[in-house]
Amino acid sequence: MQCSHFADTAIIAKCDGKTVGFVSGYRIPSRPDVLFVWQVVVADEARGQGLAGRLLEAQLATEACRGIRYIETTITKDNAASRALFAKFAKKHRVNMEEYPHFDRHTHFNDQHDSEYLIRIGPFSQ
Ligand SMILES: CC(C)(COP(=O)(O)OP(=O)(O)OC[C@H]1O[C@@H](n2cnc3c(N)ncnc32)[C@H](O)[C@@H]1OP(=O)(O)O)[C@@H](O)C(=O)NCCC(=O)NCCS
Repeated sequence: MQCSHFADTAIIAKCDGKTVGFVSGYRIPSRPDVLFVWQVVVADEARGQGLAGRLLEAQLATEACRGIRYIETTITKDNAASRALFAKFAKKHRVNMEEYPHFDRHTHFNDQHDSEYLIRIGPFSQ
């Protein structure tokens, strides 16, 4: 679904023919100026070089993302790399980053998965 239904708002990075990075997302139907980032992943060997940040940058610059004012995603408390990625992106664009409890470990995940927090960054002025 991420690569077919939402292909316009997904992006991949390749190195020597191998996929080393992937970002997917979609415009939230009831709030189309918000891009929800669904998945961000960079291959082990390509991490720590700013690739995820560059993929987010490239995704936001596509025609499909024209008019996007906010990016939202969900992140667990312990995902330091992902948190650093979005915090750095917000800082670079000089926009706010807000965080709210979203999916609760007990209420939504039956204690099988850590709580997910909604991260919201923006407004972007494109
Ligand atoms: C999150 C992820 C995509 C980051 O990819 P990346 O290309 O290595 O990220 P970047 O190089 O753009 O780094 C962005 C910032 O995060 C920081 N960072 C990267 N890995 C980190 C880690 N393990 N702990 C703390 N900070 C980290 C970087 O230092 C950088 O900040 P800085 O430039 O101010 O130092 C990658 O770690 C990953 O694929 N993780 C597994 C999948 C995942 O958790 N996805 C997110 C949830 S859907």
